[in-house]
Amino acid sequence: MRILITGNAGYVGPVLVGHLRRSMPDAAVMGVDTGLFAHCLTTRRQLPEVGVHVQHHADVRDVSPALLEGVDAVVHLAAVSNDPMGNRFSAVTAEINRDASVRLALAARDAGVKHFVFASSCSVYGAGGDAPRTERDEVNPLTAYASSKVDTERALADADLGGLVVTCLRFATACGMAPRLRLDLVLNDFVASALATGEIVVLSDGSPWRPLIHVADMARAIEWAVRRPVSAGGPLLVVNAGSNEWNYRVSDLAEAVAAAVPGTTVSINRNAAPDKRSYRVDFSLFGALAPEHRPVVGLPAAIDGLVNGLREIGFANADFRNSPLMRLKTLEAHIGEGRLSEELRWKVFGA
Ligand SMILES: NC(=O)c1ccc[n+]([C@@H]2O[C@H](COP(=O)([O-])OP(=O)(O)OC[C@H]3O[C@@H](n4cnc5c(N)ncnc54)[C@H](O)[C@@H]3O)[C@@H](O)[C@H]2O)c1
Repeated sequence: MRILITGNAGYVGPVLVGHLRRSMPDAAVMGVDTGLFAHCLTTRRQLPEVGVHVQHHADVRDVSPALLEGVDAVVHLAAVSNDPMGNRFSAVTAEINRDASVRLALAARDAGVKHFVFASSCSVYGAGGDAPRTERDEVNPLTAYASSKVDTERALADADLGGLVVTCLRFATACGMAPRLRLDLVLNDFVASALATGEIVVLSDGSPWRPLIHVADMARAIEWAVRRPVSAGGPLLVVNAGSNEWNYRVSDLAEAVAAAVPGTTVSINRNAAPDKRSYRVDFSLFGALAPEHRPVVGLPAAIDGLVNGLREIGFANADFRNSPLMRLKTLEAHIGEGRLSEELRWKVFGA
């Protein structure tokens, strides 16, 4: 099997590549990435891209059909991938996350690719209230990022996909140690904060619900999707990817991290205005369709992995929210220093 992964040089990609190389040793794994965060490494072991058989350096807005020749499955991770970046680059977010994604899926169909896996997000539920959201519930995207995911799902549902089997995985918020760790994700932020400052400051009143999924379990879900038979969900499936046990309140996450990092204090802003981005998600469909690929990493293991991984690289940066481990900061540094355009295209090469 030949698998092409877009956005393989980000947070999720390297974990996915490692997982696929272990679980599908006969598969040829190819990557395509424009390398926005290529230098943001949180490992001293090896460059994650040694794991792909072929690395293409390209922008998914320009992907040529030749790239898809002989490919059996496309895993489409490349994206402007969170709310802060989506707010700052809203037009480009639509261009990359929606327009390029739909073009890529249609090009994959034309090239005879069998499976297309789209990395969607539970953020499509927006202000979801207390009742767990299922795939049949209305979506309520509150941000440019969430809208780009909804729009892509809808465009794929309306398209003539021919023989292409499409799986849109609405991932919970990712967490966990990885070779390109991000600290702009709630659990990762709390662990980094506990280690570097001994304190977790929760800016909201702590009540919002956040479903989480460990990056290793995202990789296991994708492994299922690249081989999904049509009988498991039909030719186009939109499914929440996570587990019902992993719907947490933000305050519970902070307390769990504080318990794992002795000496950490937690301060919660009880007077904060409610955070509108609160949603619980029902992951029963995924559990029923992919019982062997349900998430297995628990919260204590996820926290331990982060603590150990950050200690291993000597992490102690109390000002990490201004560091390259925050994706928006990295893009702003590229742009501010003249390397990258506002359209997120490289202007300077190799300097
Ligand atoms: N991390 C999460 O919490 C989470 C949750 C749900 C869904 N997702 C989705 O999963 C996917 C992967 O997330 P991630 O956390 O690894 O993101 P990331 O930002 O860490 O990595 C994205 C990668 O895509 C690449 N990329 C961006 N624009 C590109 C372009 N125009 N052409 C080529 N490459 C481009 C970047 O260089 C980067 O390596 C994204 O689609 C994201 O929306 C992530």
